[in-house]
Amino acid sequence: MSPMADFLQPNLVGRSPLFIAALELTRKYSASDATVLIVGETGTGKELAARSLHYTGRRKSCPFVPVNCGAIPENLIESEIFGHVRGAFTDARESQLGLIAQAGGGTLFLDEVEAMSPRTQVALLRFLQDHQYRPVGGRTNCSADVRIVAAANVDLGSLVKQGAFRPDLLYRLNVLPLHLPALRDRGGDIQLLAQSFLERLNRRQKSLPKILTEESIAQLNSHSWPGNVRELENLIERGYVLAGDRSEIRFDSLGIGTSSAPGAAPIASVDEGYKLAKARAIAEFEHSYFTSLLSRTSGNLSLAARLAGKDRSDIGKLLRKHGIERTLFSGGVQVGEFPPTE
Ligand SMILES: Nc1ncnc2c1ncn2[C@@H]1O[C@H](COP(=O)(O)OP(=O)(O)OP(=O)(O)O)[C@@H](O)[C@H]1O
Ligand SMILES: [Mg+2]
Repeated sequence: MSPMADFLQPNLVGRSPLFIAALELTRKYSASDATVLIVGETGTGKELAARSLHYTGRRKSCPFVPVNCGAIPENLIESEIFGHVRGAFTDARESQLGLIAQAGGGTLFLDEVEAMSPRTQVALLRFLQDHQYRPVGGRTNCSADVRIVAAANVDLGSLVKQGAFRPDLLYRLNVLPLHLPALRDRGGDIQLLAQSFLERLNRRQKSLPKILTEESIAQLNSHSWPGNVRELENLIERGYVLAGDRSEIRFDSLGIGTSSAPGAAPIASVDEGYKLAKARAIAEFEHSYFTSLLSRTSGNLSLAARLAGKDRSDIGKLLRKHGIERTLFSGGVQVGEFPPTE
């Protein structure tokens, strides 16, 4: 392993020039207190990088508090982060500290920051300006010594253009930008990471260690990895389990290559009645629209709702109607593009 990779936690594997450059930036950023914005496709290691920034910096003995903005309903996110006073809203029987207070002295990691409601964006902007905030329903300001690290897996610049993200907040977050490269751009790291995941599995199991064949390594290298490192990690684990008693891991038994092609134009057929043809065209449109939308937002429902101009719950209903599983878009389990072998 290169000396540059050694200074961080040993769980950050990679030697490719793009990855080493990102590691070097991480090391420099960890010595600072300024806000970091980590961008990168799903599964590229944004959370791992955020933890690394915290645990190699001077705040390491204070809490690292992660919050996934996309997983919290829009109307609750402000109080989750900044807390609320008693009576601030119907269910607020007691006042409650926010995550920002819980992270005192440490780091608050705002994951999927693109999903933050416009109201909370304003509150965060205020905090980034002077480290002051006001709990929901409160009348006085509080202050917190907390470093903000944010992560996004969509292009915040284009969200700004669409009016879905505040430009002033983007500037404030982007003081120290950190871009994590996609796995497909990391050359030899694919094999290195695959071997490291495999070694971890081999260590855990008592049976004979398993290996990757030349052919399986070639397969890994020719895949496009839309789910990046997480997809690779899951694929190795699946290959390991499916190998059973065999010592060689192969990827021809993974049941892949069956993804549907979203975006195909609905074809109007005059063989059926107008009403039926129209209903079918609408259903096909809805399926294709929401598949593309979720793929654009990496499965993030709040952001999808904002971009589509619809309620979260309406989108939820439509996804159920079409049997679209949104977690499939958040990376990890997507292996549909892996080339099938003979
Ligand atoms: N360089 C790396 N070395 C070893 N493991 C890694 C590396 N990068 C990522 N991983 C592993 O890949 C998985 C995904 O990483 P992580 O959760 O940090 O990605 P992410 O960018 O936050 O993904 P998402 O955008 O979907 O939230 C984790 O299990 C993590 O441990
Ligand atoms: Mg993440």
